[in-house]
Amino acid sequence: MRAVIVSDHVTWVGAVDWNLRDFHGYDTPRGSTYNAYLVRGADKTALIDTVKTPFVPELLSRISEVLDPAGIDVIVVNHVEPDHNSGLRDVIAACPNARVVASVPGVRGVAEYHDGLVVEPVGADDVIDLGGVTLRFMGAPMVHWPDSMFTYCPEDDVLMCNDAFGQHLASAERFADEVGADLALEELKVYYANILMPLGAQIAKVMEKVSAAGWTSATVAPSHGVIWRGDIVAEALAAYERWGSGVLRDKVVVAYSTMWGSTDELARTVADSLIASGMDVELFDLAVSSIAHIMVEILDARGILVGSPTLHHGMLFRVAGFLQYMGGLRPAGRLGASFGSYGWSSGATKQIDDRLAEIGVDVVQDPYTQKFRPTAAELAAASEWAAAFAARVKAAGA
Ligand code: FEO
Repeated sequence: MRAVIVSDHVTWVGAVDWNLRDFHGYDTPRGSTYNAYLVRGADKTALIDTVKTPFVPELLSRISEVLDPAGIDVIVVNHVEPDHNSGLRDVIAACPNARVVASVPGVRGVAEYHDGLVVEPVGADDVIDLGGVTLRFMGAPMVHWPDSMFTYCPEDDVLMCNDAFGQHLASAERFADEVGADLALEELKVYYANILMPLGAQIAKVMEKVSAAGWTSATVAPSHGVIWRGDIVAEALAAYERWGSGVLRDKVVVAYSTMWGSTDELARTVADSLIASGMDVELFDLAVSSIAHIMVEILDARGILVGSPTLHHGMLFRVAGFLQYMGGLRPAGRLGASFGSYGWSSGATKQIDDRLAEIGVDVVQDPYTQKFRPTAAELAAASEWAAAFAARVKAAGA
């Protein structure tokens, strides 16, 4: 795959990680990319972002289609997380004439990650003139880390925004309109739910600053996945606003694990009752489901029900793993409760309720528990329990 022209002065020279299947727990069946961009003026060339270490040869090979890497004058580090920054030293070795710049927290991050490597700080007051083509900078704290920064090329109206508007999507095409809007927006949503869900307020603040600065951003060029251009830019921006607004609906995610089928039977009964009560429902057996996909469904669900049988006095490990993962993403404003079967002593549902409360989920009713296989009467009771939960979810949204 060759370097790809993005605009008059901006060229994509990143790397495609076709085989990435796990991004610290977020399963990525479609792989990812580590995007990097060359910005060329009459006098100088800048490289915006680098890549994960194993992909440095691919990056340098693509840069070499455009110019000798030794001809690069500036390297901009928009973000120090290793997927973009671990290859920095190797890139610097190939670009010995480049000054390296980062946000103020980025300068500290580069030094900490790269054993004292010193780079220069840049911020909103700085402009790097490449010769008729300029680079401007804006701190984007917590989009995704404190060091995150956006770089903008006003002459081409291209916003290089690193993790923001990224997707874990490897493809032969470089633009959202080429892979298709539906696929690009779907992966944008998965990425938002699994990386950025707790950061909606910070994202909104940064996007307000982008707008106030007059960075109209006809092209939005993230560091993962495809690049947004044309009409689809507005769709991506609107999707971020929608997800960041925290608007929830009458929808319940039921996530559970089972040993011998009793908790599975309860889960299906609960789901049927929720549906009969007017809820939209998504049900997931954690043994066979992608947690990343569950998080996408939680994005707009007001209710979360978690089920587990009791094993060794506690919840099954898959349920604990799910709660830990979800806890990191801090879904706000959700109602929750737990259910499960047990053999001789219960304990799982109390653990689940405690963990849900720690995460910030409002546990609105006592758990539904039942010994061994559920009888017809117990299934009827579980159904009533779920209907009561649905009523609370509906009331909370009224
Ligand atoms: Fe793609 Fe926060 O790194």
